[in-house]
Amino acid sequence: MYLGLDLGTSGLRALLTDDAGRTIDTAEAAFSVQTPHKGWSEQDPRAWVDGLREALGTLKTRRATALGQVRAIGLSGQMHGAVVLDRDDAVLRPCILWNDTRSAEEAAAFDAVPEVHALSGNIAFPGFTAPKLIWMARHEPELFARVAKVLLPKDYLRLYLTGEHATDLSDAAGTAWCDVAGRTWSEALLSASGMRSDQMPRLVEGSEVSGRLRKAICEDFGLPATAVVVGGGADNAAAACGSGCVQEGQGFVSLGTSGVILAARDRCLPDPTTAVHTFCHALPERWYQMGVILAATDALNWLGRLVDEATGHLAGRLPERPEGPSATLFLPYLSGERTPHNDAEVRGAFVGLDIAQDRADLTAAVMEGVGFALRDSLEALRGTGAQVDHLLAVGGGTQSRYWLHALASILNVPLQRPAEGELGAALGAVRLAMMGDGRSVAETMTQPEIAEQIAPDATLRGAYEQSYGRYRALYPNIKAALT
Ligand code: XUL
Repeated sequence: MYLGLDLGTSGLRALLTDDAGRTIDTAEAAFSVQTPHKGWSEQDPRAWVDGLREALGTLKTRRATALGQVRAIGLSGQMHGAVVLDRDDAVLRPCILWNDTRSAEEAAAFDAVPEVHALSGNIAFPGFTAPKLIWMARHEPELFARVAKVLLPKDYLRLYLTGEHATDLSDAAGTAWCDVAGRTWSEALLSASGMRSDQMPRLVEGSEVSGRLRKAICEDFGLPATAVVVGGGADNAAAACGSGCVQEGQGFVSLGTSGVILAARDRCLPDPTTAVHTFCHALPERWYQMGVILAATDALNWLGRLVDEATGHLAGRLPERPEGPSATLFLPYLSGERTPHNDAEVRGAFVGLDIAQDRADLTAAVMEGVGFALRDSLEALRGTGAQVDHLLAVGGGTQSRYWLHALASILNVPLQRPAEGELGAALGAVRLAMMGDGRSVAETMTQPEIAEQIAPDATLRGAYEQSYGRYRALYPNIKAALT
């Protein structure tokens, strides 16, 4: 048996599988996010521990025998958060999350340090960990002086489970303190942000054993003392493991709250100027690159709230396949944008509204706008040398057939829709646990069964290409109009 624990922003998911990685049971616990000021986004790490105990308690009630046979445990989690601990491992302040933008000024200043792009391989986004600690040093100097360790969110659960301060390289890569090509902490990046290497957790690969369970955990949940906890992975790296995207040519597009196009890479070829993220993969000697857009289904949910209609109903107003691009263009920058603009200030727009239009027309425009934003990410990814001939299509938005068809034509890439079943970050964590238990990449990191392949519509390609050109031209103008 194996256990995957995925610490998301809205909740924790525990996945218990048999030796072949097939689901036996799952348990979940929900958390809220605190936003005490505009742009702030925080969670109390102790709430994650409560959630972990709740989920393990549920599994213990339902699956005590299976839990007693767990051989290895994998962790995955939301990236970039700063969990700050004192010398006694007490939490000094709430965790500053990945979507917190308070450290925009500090991030911009840190980003100008030449080593940042060269070593971390990425722009220092305000959401990344290093700028948060620079912010703490400026705004909470007494607390900052007491920081003995900085952990990533999932690694606070590891500390609770094993008593070890450790992280895996895919999560370390999102801190801006990591030499992403060399797969180590960078002394230069640490000292440029006023940090020391003794404040960092020990680094392990995602598939490597990081420690064993504490006695109290074994007693509380009936887990065996022999069970090992592996490094695991950042949520996107773990999701890539869960869907078998681990080598060159394999990738996915995800229509979740945010949108992601991810490509697995055999080499580390960063290009920070494109705002593509280049991170260590959760497997040794592998990397991945991704474009991230901040609003995918979030944009549709926003429209649903405005017109007071459930998102599923809105999507249901559209036919199975588009007849061509909408006359109206939508820029989905409702919360700013990461790839390719790295612009926290820009905001969205509808352009070309017509008095004859209804909510179905706007729904189509929103879906296309998200598609065009993802096309920007795809172009940026290709600019780094990533080969993307087809993509798995995952995430809640892929339930809309219209959206899938429009996206395939906009990206001009065949999309593969997986058959029903587990393929997310929790399964990725299970697969990394299996590797820590001696199983091979080939055996564990398989691609899901494909239910359907959606090809770009050759008759609509030209029209979508033209619309994409109009979409591209809008960003500088909207930006200028807003400043
Ligand atoms: C990636 C990122 C998000 C979080 C969400 O850079 O910020 O995907 O990991 O959990």
